[in-house]
Amino acid sequence: MNYKELLATRLASQLSGLDEQSIAELIEYPPNPEMGDLSVPCFKLSKQLRRAPQAIAEELKQQWAPHPAVERVEAVSGYLNVYLNAEHFAASVLGEVFNLKERYGSQDLGQGRNIVLDFSSPNIAKTFHIGHLRSTMIGSALYNIHQFLGYNCIGVNHLGDWGTQFGKLIVAYQRWGNQAAVEAEGIDELQRLYVKFHDEADRNPELETEARLCFVRLEQGDEAALKLWRWFVEISMKEFEKMYDLLGVKFDSYAGESFYNDKMDAVIDELKQKNLLVEDEGAQLVRLDEYNMPPALMIKKDGGTLYHTRDVTAAIYRHNTYDFDKCIYVTDAGQSLHFQQWFKVIKLMGYDWADKLAHVPFGKVSLEGAKLSTRKGNVIRLEELLTQAIDKTREIISEKNPDLENKEEVARQVGVGAIIFSDLSNNRIKDIVFSWEEALNFEGETGPYVQYTHVRTCSLLRKANGTASIELPDVAGELNYGLLDGAEARGVIKQLHLFKERVEQAMHKLEPSIVSRYLVDLAQSFNSFYHASPILVEDTALRQARLALVKSVQITLRNGLRLIGLEAPEKM
Ligand code: ARG
Repeated sequence: MNYKELLATRLASQLSGLDEQSIAELIEYPPNPEMGDLSVPCFKLSKQLRRAPQAIAEELKQQWAPHPAVERVEAVSGYLNVYLNAEHFAASVLGEVFNLKERYGSQDLGQGRNIVLDFSSPNIAKTFHIGHLRSTMIGSALYNIHQFLGYNCIGVNHLGDWGTQFGKLIVAYQRWGNQAAVEAEGIDELQRLYVKFHDEADRNPELETEARLCFVRLEQGDEAALKLWRWFVEISMKEFEKMYDLLGVKFDSYAGESFYNDKMDAVIDELKQKNLLVEDEGAQLVRLDEYNMPPALMIKKDGGTLYHTRDVTAAIYRHNTYDFDKCIYVTDAGQSLHFQQWFKVIKLMGYDWADKLAHVPFGKVSLEGAKLSTRKGNVIRLEELLTQAIDKTREIISEKNPDLENKEEVARQVGVGAIIFSDLSNNRIKDIVFSWEEALNFEGETGPYVQYTHVRTCSLLRKANGTASIELPDVAGELNYGLLDGAEARGVIKQLHLFKERVEQAMHKLEPSIVSRYLVDLAQSFNSFYHASPILVEDTALRQARLALVKSVQITLRNGLRLIGLEAPEKM
């Protein structure tokens, strides 16, 4: 049942001149249960209605006609406080959870419309580092959230597999590399060659020219250069796929930058035709002075294309291919200008769908004060991070629960989960200082804490029913919901009720941390209930009612964890 809607419809009919939508948007959830379950801040209506807030609240209260969902309403300090009927509330929320199960919290807002999400997009021959983890996990969570809300999602890994850096790498490989080392060490060796190129080029600037020319040869389809390039791609992909498997992340398309090689000429022609391209010292660019931005460089003076050229081309291709409702790009905030520039180019080309492009920036990650730079080679490798998290979790399990079955799998689920959760628990735009203690603390507001709470629900259900399976015996109809009337039980029901709204907010704000924050809140409210109320009591009716609440929490935690990319083990 949608209580905000119920209330808004009621009030709109009582107050002339206000529509349901705008009232619904005002309705709040008071922080303190004494102030009701829902509340209408009448001071926000007072200007429009030209009356004092308390007078509005009083009138609303007087005219309030009884409704089975609402126990009473009160007019206090300019608020209309609404107290829901506990039994009705419990029956409605839990009934919905049981009904929808793994779909609880979902909606059909998207109605099958297409959303393209460009995320992760690591660079070939470069380390997959924690910066890419953020893009990967934020992007993947946004994918899951949109899908849960009825959109058809297309996840694109816009691999950084083209550009001048490949000229550098080929030159470095030909000068200082060998096949055996690359085969043995993979990306690490390619990375070492790339770093060496920059060290050497500091002393010998000729190398830069050589690399530029080498890339031009690559763009012109030189077979020897292409062969090396393909090999670098293959080696890198093997390592990336290992990471994606560990993280449980999938893509619908791996069309990277090189995919647009044969599509850029047409776009350059179009830019010329539309009189957008100007020549500047041999280079071709789109001027953006009018919009207070530096020009978007499209063709370098040696004829090479750029990151901009490929992004403009890719956007046009995606629009033609997927007819998207939104196309979202998840990268660090350092690239904001890049996106603003080329979004403007699309607009100047006369494409009104430019407004459907959105950059979703996130803050930097650092580890204990270390500055990260691929060029200097001092990056934090994601593989190492995940391995350490898994190892540490394995140790904790051996200590706390040595007899656990499939220890290895749980160590992976919890270790990887800890890293993902800690990544997603911050507002995405915030810079993160990664800390091991924080990520692997089972007690704090962490992934393991939420997973552990889920395990607790499973173990209660197992004790009661012999199974923690998601299939609830069909008891919902016979339950006495009136028994869930304690403050803690009510707190849990309120949280369960909030899930749908939180997921929707996370989508509108493109902010997965709303879901991770929510999961911590739900887990905390459940744990207070657990400590306050014994569940496996003698009284059958009470026990069934409490178990139903446990079951609802289990389902909702699972759904939420899945949205942000965490698994929910049943034991740990
Ligand atoms: N490869 C880029 C990087 O690692 C990210 C690409 C993002 N997507 C895009 N269409 N520009 O920084």
